[in-house]
Amino acid sequence: MLEKIKQTADYLKKKLPVIPETGIILGTGLGELATQITDKTEIPYSTIPNFPLSTVEGHSGKLIIGKLGKKDVFAMQGRFHYYEGYDMKDVTFPVRVMAALGVKTLLLSNAAGGVNPNFEIGDIMIINDHINRFPEHPLRGKNHNELGVRFPDMSEAYSKELIVKAKQIAKENKIKVQEGVYVGTQGPTFETPAEYKFFHIIGGDAVGMSTVPEVIVANHAGLKCFAISIITDLGVPGKIVEVTHEEVQQIANNVQPLMTLIMKELINRA
Ligand code: HPA
Repeated sequence: MLEKIKQTADYLKKKLPVIPETGIILGTGLGELATQITDKTEIPYSTIPNFPLSTVEGHSGKLIIGKLGKKDVFAMQGRFHYYEGYDMKDVTFPVRVMAALGVKTLLLSNAAGGVNPNFEIGDIMIINDHINRFPEHPLRGKNHNELGVRFPDMSEAYSKELIVKAKQIAKENKIKVQEGVYVGTQGPTFETPAEYKFFHIIGGDAVGMSTVPEVIVANHAGLKCFAISIITDLGVPGKIVEVTHEEVQQIANNVQPLMTLIMKELINRA
């Protein structure tokens, strides 16, 4: 694994004029932020050595490196999901590469189902913690001390400083934001009503099929993380209706300008 990370990082280093300090991983229907990147170099995943290929609809699968406002960013448009069949080392490989390149902060977005009864469809939730319900842990196996410690601390997996700043930005721009715990689960089924209820009882506010593996590896590698969920459907008793991937994408797409604003401003104030 170490050799692969180095090989991919070396390949990208040769292609890039500068190595950004901020990495961005964009979720389903949430690629807009990447379209605002200027002076950019686009690198399709299919051309990057050792990179897995993204298969799910709604992900175009490329790295976009350039400027967002005044800051250099390293954005992944399209991520690798565990439900696609990748193992956890593949799902989190890009985070390892970012860390090897010198990225210091990782911003992530996702679409999620709300299980907090106070949430509404279209809400933006700043993730302040997570519960890992994936069946495989991305750090399982031999630990490479060069990458991080054997037993990583997770007491502040999502940077408090970045959460405070993001809330301030939301307030200044009159954007309503929720804050809460994201439950990461493997999918690809959406939840049954009983599962939504369970995720709420165990302390979740939203549930989705990504983010947790990347945040674990980012923490292992010493990166600061900030993540936003767009609530695209509700797993709240009395409000549960049929969910489709198309609706999830549509709602995420409608809300994303507000999320884009928060992330962009957060990067510029860093
Ligand atoms: N459950 C899991 N993942 C999701 C959901 C959901 O309800 N909505 C969007 N992604």
